[in-house]
Amino acid sequence: MNSDKKSDKDILQRPIVLVGMMGCGKSALGKSLSGALECPLYDCDDLIVEEQGKPITQIFADEGEKTFRTLEQEKMQYLLGRGACVISTGGGAVTVAGIMKNIKARAISVWLRCDVDTILERLGDDDTRPLLQCDNPRKKLEELLSARESLYAQADIHVDNTSNDIQGVVNTIIQELRT
Ligand code: S3P
Repeated sequence: MNSDKKSDKDILQRPIVLVGMMGCGKSALGKSLSGALECPLYDCDDLIVEEQGKPITQIFADEGEKTFRTLEQEKMQYLLGRGACVISTGGGAVTVAGIMKNIKARAISVWLRCDVDTILERLGDDDTRPLLQCDNPRKKLEELLSARESLYAQADIHVDNTSNDIQGVVNTIIQELRT
């Protein structure tokens, strides 16, 4: 073993934040990565849903996207202070003012890249994403990706998550974290 390489315990000095579009695989990958690193996983959307007592579609319908973004901002600030952990964010979390700056300062960020075709294939008839409940989800995804790409690109590590090889992607991330 190369003694210069960091152990999994060493690399977990800060939270690891997964960013990327909806359907890019943040939740599934977060589970495997946190399992491999033996650290807690926090899913920002799940925590908001739990706290608000209603699904995201209902939060959007009752309070609007702006309120959801405020909840997202508050939750992310809290999670970034949790120490060693994996944080799975909602796809639009990066659009919250100042959040990328904060993530960069307090965590290690990973962008799970995924193309629109794969996202559409994965989401299928999913009706839990309010932003995609529109006439043309493909166009909406393309617009969102184009508006967010420069924010995602600020992440420390970029990995392609188009394949369904979760273990392979987890290994790639851990390798990147160790270098
Ligand atoms: C959103 C992505 C969703 C969820 C909400 C808004 C977005 O999370 O936070 O529907 O703006 O891209 P996932 O990325 O987990 O689907």
